[in-house]
Amino acid sequence: MSSEEFTVTPWSVEGDIDYDKLMQKFGTEKISPELEARIEKITGEVHPMLKLGYFFSHRDLDKILTEYEKGNKFYLYTGRGPSGKIHMGHLLPWIFTKYLQEKFDVNLIFQLTDDEKFLYSDGKTMDDVSKFTQENILDIIAIGFDPKKTKILIDTKDIKRIYPISLEIAKRITYSTVKAVFGFENSTNIGMIGFPPIQAAPCFLPSIIEGRPTPVLIPAAIDQDPYWRVTRDIAEKMGYPKPAQIHSKFLPGLGMQGKMSSSIPETAIFTTDDDKTIDKKISSTFTGGQPTVELQRKLGANFSICPVFWYLRYFFDTEKESDERARKCKSGQLLCGECKGNLKDATKPFLTEFKKQREKAKDQVDKFMFD
Ligand code: TRP
Repeated sequence: MSSEEFTVTPWSVEGDIDYDKLMQKFGTEKISPELEARIEKITGEVHPMLKLGYFFSHRDLDKILTEYEKGNKFYLYTGRGPSGKIHMGHLLPWIFTKYLQEKFDVNLIFQLTDDEKFLYSDGKTMDDVSKFTQENILDIIAIGFDPKKTKILIDTKDIKRIYPISLEIAKRITYSTVKAVFGFENSTNIGMIGFPPIQAAPCFLPSIIEGRPTPVLIPAAIDQDPYWRVTRDIAEKMGYPKPAQIHSKFLPGLGMQGKMSSSIPETAIFTTDDDKTIDKKISSTFTGGQPTVELQRKLGANFSICPVFWYLRYFFDTEKESDERARKCKSGQLLCGECKGNLKDATKPFLTEFKKQREKAKDQVDKFMFD
């Protein structure tokens, strides 16, 4: 694959991603300054992740705001495929989702697609996936979602709620559609082929819970868009509002391009990593730097491909600090060791606090479950 090419599907993100092209390909819209201003008017602040373009694209976010302004509250819906431990990259969209929940004061449904991850993986047993499901729930709760306004939906456990809706959806989507949208092949197992309606179902669950058409806003990385595309096509025919979305970019992994991956442990900082491990991982990460200090001073470095830069920008730097970091990096005034040091110093206390919340979450699980 040349560096010009990239592929994005719900199961794999490869290459150097051109987000403008991706929006064009998927047919989504860029979050405009006007839209940002509308959000600010309601919430009182533009979250840094929005301002810094981590959340950058949407479908029908404007409609969600219009309905909200009329007093018609939406539900948030997001999810996680429990295929492994939680790393920092996973936390960003959840932190953002929590901000949305707080500011708009709305309910959230959080789906755990244990079925999907069992079906998709080669080696994992259902037992393996269930362990990750239980572990991941602690991370989700540790984010600080409102227990009175948040329900976690586990596909295999809560299938009774999901199945009737997913049948209605499945009946309206053909094989040729999912084949084209998801890239299924003849060798794809039929569980995977039948899975999309299960992830689509929570889009309509709020309408069923509330007993009236209820708008849904889905914060998700843009690789999940194919699900919502097929869901939107059938929503109105089924009497439900089309699910709206707000899309994030991917956080680069330490040591590669594309997204951080739990299946390559050295590329990810897990929420359970201790200080020593965090130091080690950050010390040995790939950066946008030059091979030698002399060259870096002379030529400057490339922050745009540097995971250390992006971690600092999205998690810890202010916009001003980050812009300054970018400028100094490009002009060779900043060496990678300094940025790595900054990232270590910020990550360790952040995760120490997170781990505390994660321990506390163990007693809270029941509050977040559907009956
Ligand atoms: N398929 C997603 C994953 O593999 C999990 C998921 C389910 C999800 N429903 C969602 C993600 C809604 C975002 C929004 O991670």
